Parts: sequence; C-alpha cells; structure tokens
Amino acid sequence: MARIFLETPRLILRDWQPGDHEPYVVMNADPEVMEFFPSTMTREQTMAQISRITGFIAGNGYGFFAVERKDNRQFIGFTGLSYVTFKSDFTPCTEIGWRLSKTNWGQGFATEAAEASLRYGFGHLGLKEIFSFTSVHNQRSENVMKKIGMQKMGTFEHPLVSDGSFVKEHVLYKIARDEKLL
Ligand SMILES: CC(C)(COP(=O)(O)OP(=O)(O)OC[C@H]1O[C@@H](n2cnc3c(N)ncnc32)[C@H](O)[C@@H]1OP(=O)(O)O)[C@@H](O)C(=O)NCCC(=O)NCCS
Repeated sequence: MARIFLETPRLILRDWQPGDHEPYVVMNADPEVMEFFPSTMTREQTMAQISRITGFIAGNGYGFFAVERKDNRQFIGFTGLSYVTFKSDFTPCTEIGWRLSKTNWGQGFATEAAEASLRYGFGHLGLKEIFSFTSVHNQRSENVMKKIGMQKMGTFEHPLVSDGSFVKEHVLYKIARDEKLL
C-alpha cells in the first residue's frame, strides 16, 4: 500500500506506485500536456524523473505526490511541492507544481490538489513561503496559481531552458504562510 499524504473531497495524494509508471510515460509523451515544456519526454526520461521524485519523497517526506481520483481509482498525474536549486534571485526555494493527463483537465482537480499541498507546506512542513513558475504562455497553469491565492512577482528567464526557446520566459508567483488561512 502506498503511503497517503493528503486527501481532498475527490482526490488522494500519495506516494507513487508501479502502476503509475505507464500512464505517466504516456502523459509525458503527449504534446498537449508538454506544450509549455522544451519537449515531450521519452520513456527513459520519464522513468528517471519518477526515480528522482520518489527518491525525494522518501528522503524528505514531501514532494510531487501521485494524484489518484477517488471515483475511479485512476492515477491522473502529480501535484505537490519540490525544492528548487537552479540559480536565480529567488532560489533555493520550495516550489508548488502540477501536471495532469489531458482527460482530467477542466474539472478543478489541479486546484483542489494544489490547495491541499499548500496547506501541507504551511501546516505540516512549517514553510514560510512557496513559489510557483511556468512559461508566460501557460495560461492554465498561471490560472491555478491565481486560484490558490498566489501573487505575481514578475517574470524571469528560466536558466535551465535554452536561450531562444519559446518557453524561456517564465512568470513567477509566490504565497506567504500568513496569506493563507491554515
Ligand atoms: C496546468 C494544469 C494542471 C491545469 O489543469 P486545469 O484542469 O485547467 O486546472 P483546474 O484544476 O484549476 O481546473 C480548472 C477548470 O476546471 C473547471 N471545473 C470544473 N469542475 C470544477 C470543480 N468542481 N471545481 C473547480 N473547477 C472546476 C473550471 O471551470 C476550470 O475550467 P476552465 O479552465 O475551462 O475555466 C493542466 O493544464 C496541465 O496538466 N497542463 C500540462 C502540464 C503543465 O503545464 N503543468 C504546469 C507546468 S508549470
């Protein structure tokens, strides 16, 4: 049984299970899901990412949790917190992030899982502030940031994205612990 970290009315946020691997490989190979990333991901890249995510959760007690729907028990992607260390004027910091399969968009699942993740960060982990960032073109992701009460801090050039890339410029959002009712 995978460890359950968080539960919302419609979702379970839990540790990853072997059964999540194949649907996550398919998600990361979907050009629509990956529209605002430099590229889609190969099976090998996705498996390596799962190892990094699960290793981080095992070591830190939080991370990008696997998200499961309660109604059909399906794995639909991830939402959660991560520690970001690339070089910029706001790092190192804790980030909140999300990625769901296309058929699960437009139902409020990302926002529901993100709200629970913020409460976990501010409550259980005692964090003071949480950041989020995405390509300036990724309106759906920016909307989630706004809906969970984050404030726009500005834009920045993501140092890990190649110069000249369509997704180089990112919006940066932040929320402080005292802005969120625990
Ligand atoms: C970013 C992403 C997670 C957002 O997903 P999403 O489903 O649009 O986000 P939400 O969970 O907030 O759902 C909002 C939508 O659900 C609708 N909705 C339906 N039922 C709802 C409910 N019960 N509660 C809340 N919203 C509901 C809202 O009206 C809204 O629809 P709209 O976008 O047409 O206005 C998704 O687009 C994604 O995975 N993208 C690819 C990966 C990615 O870019 N990740 C971010 C990189 S930093």
